[in-house]
Amino acid sequence: MKTVVITGGTDGMGAALASHYLRESERVVVVGRSRVKFEALLAALAADDPATTDRASFIAADLSLTAESRRVVEQIKARHERVDVLVLAASFIRQKRHETVEGHEASWVLFFVSKYILTTGLTSLLADSDHPTVVNISVPGARVEAIDFDDLESVRCFSFIRSNAQQRRANELLGILATVENPTLAYLTWGPRRLVKTSFAGDVGWVMKMSSVILGAVAAQRPADAIEPIIALVADPPTGRAAYRGAARVPLVHGPHDADDAYRLATAIKEY
Ligand SMILES: NC(=O)c1ccc[n+]([C@@H]2O[C@H](COP(=O)([O-])OP(=O)(O)OC[C@H]3O[C@@H](n4cnc5c(N)ncnc54)[C@H](OP(=O)(O)O)[C@@H]3O)[C@@H](O)[C@H]2O)c1
Repeated sequence: MKTVVITGGTDGMGAALASHYLRESERVVVVGRSRVKFEALLAALAADDPATTDRASFIAADLSLTAESRRVVEQIKARHERVDVLVLAASFIRQKRHETVEGHEASWVLFFVSKYILTTGLTSLLADSDHPTVVNISVPGARVEAIDFDDLESVRCFSFIRSNAQQRRANELLGILATVENPTLAYLTWGPRRLVKTSFAGDVGWVMKMSSVILGAVAAQRPADAIEPIIALVADPPTGRAAYRGAARVPLVHGPHDADDAYRLATAIKEY
């Protein structure tokens, strides 16, 4: 039986993956903020097969806080000897800069720092798996220069597009650190081929909200369909870093200073 840890496993694609792996008799650890949503997910599964839910557990955490991400790592380490698959799917879209009670920019922490803390913090548990796999749901392909090392938290200038590109580039670089630590690891940055009809959880203006509602209604795919390529990749993972849009492998974006940039990020995270 595999142990699958899924952040953002209470909704959207994370919930679809949690349901899939529970139906497949794997052990699933869901990380999210809402226990109510987790229990609703279990209730829906239990209606078909009550035994499914025995292998599910929930860790309530706000991953926009670094202390919470560290607590999640400790709780997983205390309860599990091995992690086979780590899916990083937590998402809360903010169009404006938002500082948390820790004094850090919320999107940078949720979409990158927490992923860094979980991936590196669970290295030893992943190393005990035969086919350790990290699926980082983060659209690959951001440009090499997308990270502003002098202003990682966008104090001087915040825009959704800039912040999103920076997180995506950082998540690709995280794969360098993760695969150096564990050469047998599959580290996959993955984005859906097209829009997925999910909760689009976030604090956004009405234009973005209406766009997601309209596009969601006319053009989006169901989470259960969107995750099919992830399921196939986890079943037969490549070794090392790789990037995908849907089922299609896409080139990793290489720059002349990738390794240096990855270690620069690691140094910056030590301050968190
Ligand atoms: N939907 C798309 O078309 C699309 C396109 C490109 C990329 N993506 C990426 O795909 C991933 C999954 O997105 P989705 O659309 O499936 O998500 P979603 O339906 O919006 O669900 C977001 C999940 O993240 C959790 N979450 C939100 N804030 C959190 C926090 N502070 N701490 C911990 N958990 C938190 C939510 O759980 P609680 O409510 O329990 O907190 C929920 O389970 C994201 O990385 C997103 O950027 C999605």
